[in-house]
Amino acid sequence: MRVNERRLLTWLVAVTLGAASCATLHGGSGSGSAEAGAVSYTPPADPPGDMVLAAATGGPGVQPTPRLAQPGDPYRDALADAYKSFKGLAEGKNADYIPILGKVDPSLYGLVIVTVHGAVYEIGSARDEFSIQSVSKPFSLARVIETAGPDAVNKRIGVNATGQKFNSILAIDLLKNIPSDEKHVIPAGNPLVNAGAISTVDLLPVARGMDKWSVILGNLEAFAGRKLAVNDEVYKSESETNTHNRAIVQLLKDYEVIQGDPMEALDLYTRQCSVSVSARDLAVMGATLANGGRNPLTGVQVVAPSTAAQVLAVVSTAGLYETTGEWLYKVGVPAKSGVGGGIVAIVPGKFAVGTFSPPLDPAGNSVRGQRAVEALIQKLGGNIFAAKPVGRSRETKAEGPPAPMGPPAPVAGKSPPQPAAVAGKN
Ligand code: DON
Repeated sequence: MRVNERRLLTWLVAVTLGAASCATLHGGSGSGSAEAGAVSYTPPADPPGDMVLAAATGGPGVQPTPRLAQPGDPYRDALADAYKSFKGLAEGKNADYIPILGKVDPSLYGLVIVTVHGAVYEIGSARDEFSIQSVSKPFSLARVIETAGPDAVNKRIGVNATGQKFNSILAIDLLKNIPSDEKHVIPAGNPLVNAGAISTVDLLPVARGMDKWSVILGNLEAFAGRKLAVNDEVYKSESETNTHNRAIVQLLKDYEVIQGDPMEALDLYTRQCSVSVSARDLAVMGATLANGGRNPLTGVQVVAPSTAAQVLAVVSTAGLYETTGEWLYKVGVPAKSGVGGGIVAIVPGKFAVGTFSPPLDPAGNSVRGQRAVEALIQKLGGNIFAAKPVGRSRETKAEGPPAPMGPPAPVAGKSPPQPAAVAGKN
């Protein structure tokens, strides 16, 4: 048995044992996985509505007890404020290039925070399910880093931002003409654009006799800490209309990035994007990355801390596609969006936010979700680039900073100095 196969089997045994030791399965119609991932808590039955519900797990596998969060709790206050501030915001438009997404109620709006200690805060449509779409991509990337290794991802898919739209064909062809070294080109871009995400699924190694789909779904379940299912209507709608992605996979096959059957890779990717999740699930999945790869609700170590760090690096540079730089500049946390209206934002070592609101900006990112995360991070802190100065501060001079250096003023009776002659020849 090869090393990768052994790692994959070890992981599957671990998550299945996690499932065996835990409680009720929850939610979702459609086609679930044969091998359920770790499932160890049941979200409280009553949705939070306009109040913030809080629950603490009390330790891995212990059922959370929901209660109304009290004013003065910083997470509660920040969540209640962000929710209220953007509830009436009507900017953006549902994705409709996947026809069924255009029919989702645009007023649905939910926000959830999950901390690395397993506290859950939720408000609004926190439990309403929607298709995960591109928010699935970092989690499949994590599994591929674990099984194929970080170098394989770097060499075959790449980890640099493309600066182009998520489904750009132009980016693939541009990168094809920019070798990363003498022999090597990595035209898929990165694992978060469609080209790279489909290639990630193609690259995913599976142990002999194992079905790739159950590995993909079992992995998402281990991150979410509960059983998940494909929304069959979304899968059908997307499969019937994904002509652009079909062009991408044929090009990637021609460029030898996709090595298996391109239509099979596309089908697995489309199913992955059609998995139903809630904002609450996204927050738990994000909190697992924030917590060094360990799910704070189930206690299962889903991926290694080093894998979580590598995934977060890629999410930081490419999570919101062509607007990622602007996002990082303004908000300063890694975040990943999906055209279903979900966003997950991660503050390593602290907490993650899951949001759901279908109307999107032109880059394909939820408008309200971005605004709410920005407000939460400003209130709670978490900008990964922000640092408090340490050491003794020196007094700033009352008259302010020194004047900018200009050319010296000419001395009376003398001509101004000329630039020094350049020695030698060019
Ligand atoms: O392949 C697609 O176009 C969709 N399944 C996923 C795109 C997506 O979610 C882009 N993210 N904002």
